[in-house]
Amino acid sequence: MEIFCSGSSINVKTEKMGKIEELFNRAKTIGEIIDKKVREGKNIIVLGHLDADGITSASIIAKAILRKNGRFVVRIINNLKLKTVHELKEEDYDFYIFCELGAGIGRQIKEILNDKWIAIDHHQISEDEKSIDNIINSWQFGIDGTKEISASGMSYIVALTMDRNNTDLSCLAVVGALGDKQDQGEGRSITGLNEIIVKDAIESGYLKVTKDLMFYGRETKPIHEAIASTTTPFIPGLTGNRDSCLATLTSAGIKLKEGVRWRTIAELSEEEKGKVIEAIIPYLTLAPSATDKVKELIGNIYTLEREDEHTSLRDGREFATLLNACGRTGNGGVGVSICLGDRDFALQEGERILAEYKHTLNNYVQNILSDEKRVVEGKWSFMVIGDGLIDEKMLGAISSILSGITRFEGKALFVKTITNDGDVSFSARKTKGCSPALNLGLIMAEASKFEGVGGGHDVAAGARIPIQRSDEFLKIIEERLRELDEGKGQN
Ligand code: C5P
Repeated sequence: MEIFCSGSSINVKTEKMGKIEELFNRAKTIGEIIDKKVREGKNIIVLGHLDADGITSASIIAKAILRKNGRFVVRIINNLKLKTVHELKEEDYDFYIFCELGAGIGRQIKEILNDKWIAIDHHQISEDEKSIDNIINSWQFGIDGTKEISASGMSYIVALTMDRNNTDLSCLAVVGALGDKQDQGEGRSITGLNEIIVKDAIESGYLKVTKDLMFYGRETKPIHEAIASTTTPFIPGLTGNRDSCLATLTSAGIKLKEGVRWRTIAELSEEEKGKVIEAIIPYLTLAPSATDKVKELIGNIYTLEREDEHTSLRDGREFATLLNACGRTGNGGVGVSICLGDRDFALQEGERILAEYKHTLNNYVQNILSDEKRVVEGKWSFMVIGDGLIDEKMLGAISSILSGITRFEGKALFVKTITNDGDVSFSARKTKGCSPALNLGLIMAEASKFEGVGGGHDVAAGARIPIQRSDEFLKIIEERLRELDEGKGQN
């Protein structure tokens, strides 16, 4: 059976057809609500979560409003607490659009803001929340928001219903899905409903999908720098170490320069790429699963064809990292400006923030890996203690990197730090070899019931709790992991 998104069509599993049609109808209703607010000249605030998916999701809606000459501001925030909703109510806005925010507190938002809001999301929500009219969330339609569509994908569908010419925004939705690591399909492809969006982006001439080595900056950086700045997978001895990369490639006989100019990965012939992989294998064989890791080096590359090839925006994954860098360093506005089209000051600033961010991340990871006291291994989990080291906004980025390191495979990974407010913030990741039944989102939501907030997806979740409730929180996590080991509970 076929479904049409924006003039393009794609084969979608038949059993999901009805649900997808329902989603599109609902997106249309949400699009009409936004349209009406714009026509009435309402003062709109679009709030987005601080990661790449939150920023692209908010930017897509902002751009759709901008194209209708609407009045709006965009704000990027870490998480949506009830206190924030109360504060927002006191501000001078007529309508609130939450992007990738608000899961778990939908009922309370409704009580505070009545009908002056909508939320566009892909996080798992309760049955009760699914019934709230103000929310459009993939799970309402049985669509798995962990892998099949991101919040930016949901925003894109809403934007398309507002104007069929919004197809150029499909690229931002691809960037959002990559940022949320939805590239879990064959050869690191993004799948599910995301495929419709990829197809839109290709057909409208904005995106090219190819298979290649997956180093960051494959079109923009000297080869040794591209390898050094790649954190997924984290290559012990090479990641973060330009000199070592340079020495390894040089001794492997790879031609790194064309005259005075450094060559890039994208310029390498197939034979040369094979040589690069061969040179890297000895570093990966430090890990027992080297073959799988080598596979991780090759996969689908999502190239944004209309972006300058010497910027980080050209590669979808690198674009997403740049947006994460902006959001997680308190520069969400720079990310939004780039998504809205600023290729001058905002892009320059974004590139600077990205370089600094990668440097900081690498320092954190090296620090953790070289200090045994920071890693506590339990029977079913690893707890990485980032207290006094990791900034709370960087926690998710660190846990994502660590979860790809062989040493942590087979157990649930938790990374914690003390926040500026004195709370404890946790970021959790499923690693390779964890039970498929493990659902970290459910565990974090349950464990944070003591005055905390928590939730997320089965593979990636988080929580924030008052420090004095830490013991109860950890006890619940331990219990759920033990139950799972005994063959009980979750998914
Ligand atoms: O911050 P991090 O990247 O670890 O977050 C992983 C997932 O958990 C995200 O989808 C985020 O929205 C969710 N999360 C949550 N509540 C928190 C922290 C994270 O729902 N307090």
